[in-house]
Amino acid sequence: MKKILITGGAGYIASHTNIECIASGYQPVIVDSLVNASKESVRRVEALASRAIPFYQCDLRDEAALRRVFEQEGPIDAVIHFAALKAVGESVQEPLRYYDNNLTGSLSLFAMMKAFGVKNIVFSSSATVYGDPEKVPVTEDAPVSATNPYGWTKVMMEQILTDTARAEGWKSVILRYFNPVGAHPSGDIGEDPAYPNNLVPFVSQVAAGIREKVVVFGDDWPTPDGTGVRDYIHVVDLARAHTAALRYLEGSEGNAIFNIGTGRGYSVLEIIKAFEKACGKPIPYVIGPRRDGDVAEVLGDPSRANKELGWKAEYGLEEMVASAWNWQSKNPKGYRS
Ligand code: NAD
Ligand code: WQD
Repeated sequence: MKKILITGGAGYIASHTNIECIASGYQPVIVDSLVNASKESVRRVEALASRAIPFYQCDLRDEAALRRVFEQEGPIDAVIHFAALKAVGESVQEPLRYYDNNLTGSLSLFAMMKAFGVKNIVFSSSATVYGDPEKVPVTEDAPVSATNPYGWTKVMMEQILTDTARAEGWKSVILRYFNPVGAHPSGDIGEDPAYPNNLVPFVSQVAAGIREKVVVFGDDWPTPDGTGVRDYIHVVDLARAHTAALRYLEGSEGNAIFNIGTGRGYSVLEIIKAFEKACGKPIPYVIGPRRDGDVAEVLGDPSRANKELGWKAEYGLEEMVASAWNWQSKNPKGYRS
């Protein structure tokens, strides 16, 4: 059975990917510092998959500890590299922490991959590298840049990985996720932010009565209803893009970059309305000012992933918000429930 090292493996997207990896016949091995996650997510994945998963609480920047993981686990076939800090606003306040965690952590991982001869990697990138795209849906050859330190870590990581893969003869897949939302159909794993910076977890907490109302960040954008439009992707579809990427690595050469989205956009108000339908109650909201750094519309063209990865998003908006609500209502305090 192929062994896959999952960095940041206790996190939101990784926990769903662990399930898909096991379903596809891979053995995940998790490394996570737990800076933004709980070991409970790993326990729940183990229960859902009826399988024990090796877990190492380890910061990637701790090279000695990471070396012990590689030594103990023996041959690793591929790495899926999720571990990163991801809050855009926080990255503006604490750039050094973000550059250190996301870049130093990745460099330490790459050094260990080189030392142990691991040559296959899937990397979590983001639509944030497109900034404010000139045209939507955006394709992978659009120019990349960033407007905040978090975004720069993704731009830099793509470059570092591309250069390293070329020099070391590695095979790599960079997945640029659009807006991941929703949860596993069991409602046992999901997104559990300390503070919800993103729209869907915020709406979920309002629906659950944890927060009073949603503030819609502007209704004067050049979009059909004036609110921001994004390409939301169900986290289970996103998780399956990773197993498609692992299969792709087995038959490919070199590096590839793929957009992972649906190509279909929804506005903030459409999300709120869909969520009201899913939870059967009104979601109070007010229109507020635009948020710094926001853009009107971001949509990804997933054609390359559809064709070359053989992957396509299967779930629509209704399943995204219904699954988010199922997770939220079953776990009002997230993994502390
Ligand atoms: P998450 O915070 O739930 O998961 C990240 C995990 O990495 C956490 O479990 C955290 O404890 C761990 N981690 C962070 N730094 C670490 C370090 N130095 N060593 C070991 N573990 C560390 O976030 P997520 O939403 O699951 O995101 C996973 C990846 O996908 C990240 O790279 C993120 O930047 C990227 N991404 C996320 C989104 C999104 O909206 N959720 C969109 C695009 C890209
Ligand atoms: C979606 C829409 C907001 C919250 C972010 C990161 C990006 C990527 C995905 C990691 C926008 C509006 C939001 C709220 C609102 N992450 N909104 N009220 O900004 O598209 O992308 O997450 O890589 O890098 O920037 O996602 O969910 O924050 O916002 O009106 O309370 O909802 O203005 O139009 P975003 P989001």
